[in-house]
Amino acid sequence: MNDLVKIGIAGLGTIGSGVIKNLLRNKKELEEKYQFEFEVSGISASKKDKKRSFDTSQFKWFDNPLDLAKDPNIDLIMELIGGDTGTAYDLALETIKNKKGLITANKALISSHGKELSELSDSNNSFIGYEAAVAGGIPVIKTLRGGLVLDKINGVYGILNGTSNFILSRMSEADKTFEEALIEAQNLGYAEADPSFDINGLDAAHKLSIINSLCFSEFPSLESISVKGIENILTLDHKYAHEFGYNIKLIASSSITDGSLRKEVAPTLVKVDSSLGSVSNVSNVVCINTEYNGTLVLEGEGAGEGPTSSSVLSDVVDYAMGIKHHLFNKKYINLSDPASHKNFIERCYYLRVFLVDQKGAMSNLTSILGKNGISIDQVIQRGGVHLKDEKNFTPVIMLTHPIDSESIDSAFSELINSDLISMDPIFLPVLKDNL
Ligand code: HSE
Repeated sequence: MNDLVKIGIAGLGTIGSGVIKNLLRNKKELEEKYQFEFEVSGISASKKDKKRSFDTSQFKWFDNPLDLAKDPNIDLIMELIGGDTGTAYDLALETIKNKKGLITANKALISSHGKELSELSDSNNSFIGYEAAVAGGIPVIKTLRGGLVLDKINGVYGILNGTSNFILSRMSEADKTFEEALIEAQNLGYAEADPSFDINGLDAAHKLSIINSLCFSEFPSLESISVKGIENILTLDHKYAHEFGYNIKLIASSSITDGSLRKEVAPTLVKVDSSLGSVSNVSNVVCINTEYNGTLVLEGEGAGEGPTSSSVLSDVVDYAMGIKHHLFNKKYINLSDPASHKNFIERCYYLRVFLVDQKGAMSNLTSILGKNGISIDQVIQRGGVHLKDEKNFTPVIMLTHPIDSESIDSAFSELINSDLISMDPIFLPVLKDNL
C-alpha cells in the first residue's frame, strides 16, 4: 500500500479540472476514510495560459505531458486528454513503460488499443484504472471486474451515451428538434468536443466493446459491433412510438443468442416503464443479465464533471489500496479475437416512411414488405403531417411481426430504390423484454 500517492495529471478540460477540484475539496475526507495521502505533483495541458476554474500556479507545470511519466517523483498518471492516437496514446505507453499506475477516462483509447494495452499491462504488472471510461459515475467496470466473480453473463443492455440520451429525452419530452436538443447538450458540457461520436453511436460502441471484453473475454473491437446512430430520428417518431407504448433510446447490447454473441448499438423501441425506457436526460443505465444473480440494473449520471471525476477518484483509491486486476479480468493469453455476427435473429421492427400521397402507394409499400417476408402487426397513417415542404408525402408508421435482419435490409434497399418515399425509411428494432 502507498502511504503517499503522487499524481501527475495530463489534460485539464472538463474532466481534468473537475478531478483537481474534487480532489482538493475532498482531500481530508478521503485521507481519513482510506488512510492514504495524495499530492498533485504535476499538471499538463496543451494551453498553459488558458483561463481555468482552479488556480494552476499551485501545481508544478509540465509543458510536455510525457515528462510526467518520466518524473521519478510521480507514481500515478491520469491521462485525461482523450482521443485514441497522439499524446494520449503515447502517454499511456510511456506510463506503463515507466512502471507507473495509469488512470484514464478515455474509452476510445482502451477500445482501440485494448489488445496491446492488455499485453503490456500483463508483462509490466501495471495498474490501469478506467472506471470513468464507461457510463460516467456508474461503477460498472468495478462491478464487472470484481463484483461478479461466480457469474456467467448472458447479455448486457445499456444506455451508454449521456448526450444522445439527453437529446432523445428532450425530443420526446419537450418536443425539441434534434438540432435544438444537441445545442442544449453542448451548452451543458455533456457532448464530446466533436459531438459526432455521441450522435453516430461510436461513443456508445467504444464503451460496449470494453464491456464485451470484461463480460465475454474478447479483445475490444468496434468492427464486430453493428452500429447505428440517432441522427435520423425525428420528433414525430417519439410521438408514434409512445402511441405503441414505447420510448426510443440508443441501446447498446451484447447478448448470446443461438450460441453466438450479437453486438449492436442502435436506436431501439423499449417499453416506456422498463429500466431502459424510463432513464431520461444525461443518465446512463446498464442491465446485466446473469446466470446466478438474475438481472442487475445499474443506473446513474453518465456524463459531466461531477460523475466522471468521482469515477476517476475511485480508481485513485484502488491504486492507493493496491487493488489490481488484469485489464479485462483475464490474462492477455486467455482473451480471444472477437467473432462478428451482424445478422440478427427474428424480432419486431418499427418502420417509418414518408409515403407518396397517390393511388396504390400503400398497396405498393405493403407489397414490397410482403415480398421480403415482412408481416405488419400495427399501422398508423393519419395524413395531414408532412415532411418540411414536401406536401405530397405523409408519414406511415408500422410495427412488424418478428422478422430477421436480412429481410429488413433487403426491404430497405427496395424502398430506397422505389419512387414511393421521399427520404430514407427507418427500421428500428423493438425490445420486447421488460429490461
Ligand atoms: N460524451 C459522453 C456522453 C461523455 O455523452 O456519454 C461520457 O463518456
